[in-house]
Amino acid sequence: MLDDHLNFFYYIVLFAAYCFAGWLAEVIYRSVTQRKFVNAGFLFGPFLPIYGIGAFLVLALERVLQDWPMAVRFAAFGLVITLLEYSAGYLSEKIFKLKLWDYSEKRFNLHGYVCLSFSLLWTLLATGFALFVHPEAIRRAAMLPAGLVQIAAIVFLVYFWIDYTFSVISLAAFRKGVAYLYEEYFNLSSLEIEDILKSFQRLREAFPDLNKYVNQNINRRIRIKVGSFLKPVLEKIFQELDGRKPFEAEYYETVSDILRHEEFRKLKDYFHHNSSIYRHVHDVAYLSYRISKFLGLDYRSTARGALLHDFFLYDWRNHDAPDLPREKFHGLEHPKIAVANARKYFSLNDIEEDIIRKHMWPLTLVPPKYKESYIVSFADKYLSSKEFISEYKKRIGARRSKIPRGKHSSARKS
Ligand SMILES: [Fe+2]
Ligand SMILES: [Fe+2]
Repeated sequence: MLDDHLNFFYYIVLFAAYCFAGWLAEVIYRSVTQRKFVNAGFLFGPFLPIYGIGAFLVLALERVLQDWPMAVRFAAFGLVITLLEYSAGYLSEKIFKLKLWDYSEKRFNLHGYVCLSFSLLWTLLATGFALFVHPEAIRRAAMLPAGLVQIAAIVFLVYFWIDYTFSVISLAAFRKGVAYLYEEYFNLSSLEIEDILKSFQRLREAFPDLNKYVNQNINRRIRIKVGSFLKPVLEKIFQELDGRKPFEAEYYETVSDILRHEEFRKLKDYFHHNSSIYRHVHDVAYLSYRISKFLGLDYRSTARGALLHDFFLYDWRNHDAPDLPREKFHGLEHPKIAVANARKYFSLNDIEEDIIRKHMWPLTLVPPKYKESYIVSFADKYLSSKEFISEYKKRIGARRSKIPRGKHSSARKS
């Protein structure tokens, strides 16, 4: 509870201490979970103002409700802390157009700004703070000499004002950088994109959900652009492709060194969807090559990148493969493995590398950079689903033929 005997400066010092304690708790939590030092919060200095504000709101409530039963105070703390977190999330999104944290994937969340599990955790911490931490803190603060407290409070206020101003400028600059990224994504080189993101490394580390938010926005805009770009031509392409087989001399000439390579030919030994990886990448490469050529794009890079897009030498259903340890997820790992293998045996240009690295998009959050990569990503999904369906039909057929006539036995899945 608040102590009327202490003057304003003592409360400023306590506010600073609570902002610092909040910062320390978040830094420990983030650094442990991200396995490196992470400076939490949007200020440059070691303070998280939301903790200080939360602490004083809880103390004000405790003062009003001190004679009420514990359950009522607990519920009131929960409500005020949740309201504070919601307003901070809502306002930062309204003002900076950035979602600094996002609980959308948690159960019982409200607009991603708050969620039940974290609100409960904050309420428990707030109750412990009001009942045990603050009374002890105020007892110790009261022992400090008034002159020293006054100087410390003024230093903190001046420092806080400067830090706050620069931090808001930095957040606004980040917002501007992100808006530029949304608009100019296709016109920027990979290096320029990396530079923009790197210049805001601290903010992106302090708020890990920011990356997801920015990527989702870029993805959404790109999907709309790509959809309107590909839709009108797809029908025409499929008409043209109807009945054609990959026999064209130009296509073979473009990819012959890869097709002949001893290491690449090993893909014939690995099962994929309904045949071998070799067969799958060959089909994806030819379809992508045709689409790319039709659209007047870099069809050579498209064919080569597409051919190498699944260059991984293991059975993806078996997690004991050396390239795919048990804790890794094949869907996210295999593009990286394919890039490493492709680089080892062939030279890759930017487009080819982007094709391989991003062919699983939107599973990989960072979207493709080139039109050619979208084509391969599309062709891969289109042919993979066709392969899956044909394999599924084959298995169903095989299962049915195993069932003895007139009997209802359940065939084992092969
Ligand atoms: Fe793949
Ligand atoms: Fe594939």
